[in-house]
Amino acid sequence: MTFKLTSRYLLERRGLKLGHVSAPKAVDMPDKKTIMKAWKNDQSIVLPKLLDEQLPRYQADIQRAHQCMESTLNGVELGEQLEKNSSIKRLEPEFSFLASSMEEHDEQAIEKLYFDAGDEQNILAEDLWCKASWLSFHDEDASLRFRFSFGMEGYEDVAADPKRQHWAGELCTKMFPESELITKNTDILQYMSSILGHQPAFVERIVYFNTPNGGAQFHHDVERGHAGVVFAQLSGATFWLAANKLQLMQVMRDFSEKHNTPAELQSLLKNQVALSDYMEEEDHGWVESLIDHNPIFIQYMIKQGYAHVLQTGDVLLLPQRDLNHCVWHSVFTLGDEPGEALSFAVR
Ligand SMILES: [Fe+2]
Repeated sequence: MTFKLTSRYLLERRGLKLGHVSAPKAVDMPDKKTIMKAWKNDQSIVLPKLLDEQLPRYQADIQRAHQCMESTLNGVELGEQLEKNSSIKRLEPEFSFLASSMEEHDEQAIEKLYFDAGDEQNILAEDLWCKASWLSFHDEDASLRFRFSFGMEGYEDVAADPKRQHWAGELCTKMFPESELITKNTDILQYMSSILGHQPAFVERIVYFNTPNGGAQFHHDVERGHAGVVFAQLSGATFWLAANKLQLMQVMRDFSEKHNTPAELQSLLKNQVALSDYMEEEDHGWVESLIDHNPIFIQYMIKQGYAHVLQTGDVLLLPQRDLNHCVWHSVFTLGDEPGEALSFAVR
């Protein structure tokens, strides 16, 4: 992708200033063949302006979602918000709101809302939930997310129980109708049908609000039961570094040959299997200090063509086949405004 200097942004995440980036002027919409090929080769690909035509239809919903985020930041309970702004009415009769929990055991959690699909006479799916969480513990990062799932948290198996999966997805659409920008987008449906060989279902849904100073460190989203992630930028803008795992390992090696890196990292980089396993560890500090904290490495990745800028209306596809064939990605918020985004896994 070619970067044209139009304006410059500071890359800052949780207090770490990681250099500047230039916003690209425009990226062309790839054709279907290119999209299919990228997915097959475990490469991320941007579908620029894909949502532009449909966005105005959902502007009121997007505005309401921003208000919901603001109220949450101001400490208003979600359950209370639901009751107040007639959202409960919107959910009925398909969903019954059962309870909310402040999730005291989970430091990162804000609140969790529980629902059943159906009514007392006819329950279609039980124990669905929407959980609001902070994305970090950093004081100046107000980023938060709403995640939709079901059953016992941490033990949800997205490969099992397609019925509850379906209803957790419907709950997301009811609470955030702008979800349809992905789920009803004829282009996305067509591309994903061709890639998967069947009609896609959108599971493991997350509605994100990335605020200035927020984002996500390098990670992958591999999980049994889905093939990858469709990410849609509904407001604001984000900056991404994205490379599949093999590429990322190669970039680290190339960089390390040209720059000073710690001996511990250098010895890891010499052993592909050890490096690959190490990257999956919760604490992978030697790699993290390079790929997440080193502004020179970030500039190096940008120069190698691994950067994307997502502006409002853009969509990004992130294939996640398995641990060795998946797109690792790092996200920064661009600009001064929080942005809403959808991150839906596809199966
Ligand atoms: Fe991710």
